[in-house]
Amino acid sequence: MPSKTAARSAPAEPAAEEKPEIALEDLPGIGQTTADKLRESGYTDLMELAVASPGDVAEAAEIGVAIAQKIIGEARRKADVGGFESGTQLLERRKKLGRITTSTKALDELLGGGVETQAITEFSGEFGTGKTQIAHQIAVDVQLPAAQGGLGGDVVYIDTESTFRPERIVDMAKGAGLDPAATLERIHVARAFNSNHQMLLVAKAQELARERPIRLLVVDSLTAHFRSEYMGRGELAPRQQHLNRHLHELLRFADTYNASIVVTNQVSARPDILFGDPTRPIGGNIVAHAATYRVYLRKSKPPRRIARLIDSPNLPEGEAVFSLTTEGIRD
Ligand SMILES: Nc1ncnc2c1ncn2[C@@H]1O[C@H](COP(=O)(O)OP(=O)(O)OP(=O)(O)O)[C@@H](O)[C@H]1O
Ligand SMILES: [Mg+2]
Repeated sequence: MPSKTAARSAPAEPAAEEKPEIALEDLPGIGQTTADKLRESGYTDLMELAVASPGDVAEAAEIGVAIAQKIIGEARRKADVGGFESGTQLLERRKKLGRITTSTKALDELLGGGVETQAITEFSGEFGTGKTQIAHQIAVDVQLPAAQGGLGGDVVYIDTESTFRPERIVDMAKGAGLDPAATLERIHVARAFNSNHQMLLVAKAQELARERPIRLLVVDSLTAHFRSEYMGRGELAPRQQHLNRHLHELLRFADTYNASIVVTNQVSARPDILFGDPTRPIGGNIVAHAATYRVYLRKSKPPRRIARLIDSPNLPEGEAVFSLTTEGIRD
């Protein structure tokens, strides 16, 4: 992280929107060891600390709750908590909203014109319904020029299940009329080994986004690690807490870089690992609150799939039919 020291030693010329950063170590009461422990647990900057709970911070840094409380208080004072934005500013920001085509008219229409930036779009469904295929497709399509439904942007692809396939990107790039090699070059893939690593990768993505025009961040799958790591009923609350933090970091990324966030979520019919309605996507109300667009996929006559928009605040519920083909997803 070269930017941190650089920003501190040369505060005279911060980049256009960037404020000089304050490292965790600069907070009173935090030494190198504590800072490292915090970062390992996903607290990578002041904002994470400012919105954290004392119990979580105490546990992560192996310190007392009282000290954790003090650290959080200090972080709140120093962090750029943001706060209020005027209606005018909000309107300006919303004017910059972009959309990425999915290469299918039906799905684009279902989403109100494609996958929106500054928002999280969730694709859920059982195994084999096409979640990973759609994620690959959007990772290709975001690279298209605006005239063809893209944003001319790069992609961060967080792969938690080792199902990213460069070969599929090559097929789909050809299908979209893009140069396959150049297309692969613009997809920055990282495999997440566990949920903490997954969260850490979002912080890494922020660093990358300062150098590359990242307009899409994919997390495939959003919930798999969380689900397997927090198995017991008693662990539901900590799981939801961590998932919530992850989603908010993703949303912040979306706002900061005017990027789209696409996440996948398996639904499972196994009552032994799910609580509540077993047919609901994992993560329940936490994901429901954070995701702006939720698309539920199900199988139809092969190679067809049916997508249904659920819980949308501003779009009518509807269904779209598409097919999984070698060149990608198609009407
Ligand atoms: N090269 C290809 N050509 C055509 N269709 C393909 C190709 N590769 C995969 N598919 C289709 O995609 C399906 C798999 O979809 P996908 O991997 O996106 O499912 P998923 O929803 O991500 O499942 P999971 O929950 O297991 O991750 C296959 O069953 C097949 O129908
Ligand atoms: Mg998949």
